[in-house]
Amino acid sequence: MAGQTNTSTGKQLELIHTRGIDPLHESQLIFVPKHREIKDFHSLNAIKSLRFCSHCLSLSGNPPKQELFQDSVFSFLYPMAIEAWFMDENNEDQRLPHHRNPKEFVSLQHLADLGVLYWHLNPKEYENDEELKKIREARGYSYSDMLDLCPEKVENYEEKLRNFYTEHIHGDEEIRYCLVGSGYFDVRDKDDRWIRIWIKAGDLIVLPAGIYHRFTLDTTNYVKLMRLFVGEPVWTAYNRPQEDHPARKGYIKGVLAEKIGVPLQAY
Ligand SMILES: [Fe+2]
Repeated sequence: MAGQTNTSTGKQLELIHTRGIDPLHESQLIFVPKHREIKDFHSLNAIKSLRFCSHCLSLSGNPPKQELFQDSVFSFLYPMAIEAWFMDENNEDQRLPHHRNPKEFVSLQHLADLGVLYWHLNPKEYENDEELKKIREARGYSYSDMLDLCPEKVENYEEKLRNFYTEHIHGDEEIRYCLVGSGYFDVRDKDDRWIRIWIKAGDLIVLPAGIYHRFTLDTTNYVKLMRLFVGEPVWTAYNRPQEDHPARKGYIKGVLAEKIGVPLQAY
């Protein structure tokens, strides 16, 4: 792969791309210094707490050396730690990826413009994770519980899956931290197109109140999610259409006024 030198520091940088991302998508390529782990992108106002080891290309494991990268002029194009894409119109099994042909990936900035927040954390550390603690404190996520979704553990699994997949909104944020397995959150963008967000272990995602969305497992049929909430949880789903719902109105106003579309928060 091509490399380049950071002009400020003279450090040799190596061009790599994140797991499974189409390397032709320039916006999803990142530069990392050789043999260093990047822990934070504070100054870049992009993804927080992305752990990336250039030895093993792991985004969430235990890199051999924990080093905090503090070079504010670190050169990169755009870090992409989560995969998201525009969906096709096909009605076959919802658990399939439903890529368009050719594939059309969606950037984190596009998700941020919709008010979707994202962090990547270490799922093995969730019980004592200072980073998770900071996020919870900053955003007031006082409540948490676990949701284990697989055919063996859930009664009426297929029916539940269908319900999760019914397009709806909530009056509050939907906050999910994926600890094991994977699944798809689909959200509508400003032009009412479906964007499929593939969450995997370590992905913490926040959907704003009032955004039309749905959820499904993927073909692995297993996900373990931590659900978070501000105060006493309310899981009520309001199926579309909900144009008069205060949360929907608030969301539309926020997006149009570009109040929601702030860069991903940094903590
Ligand atoms: Fe929901």
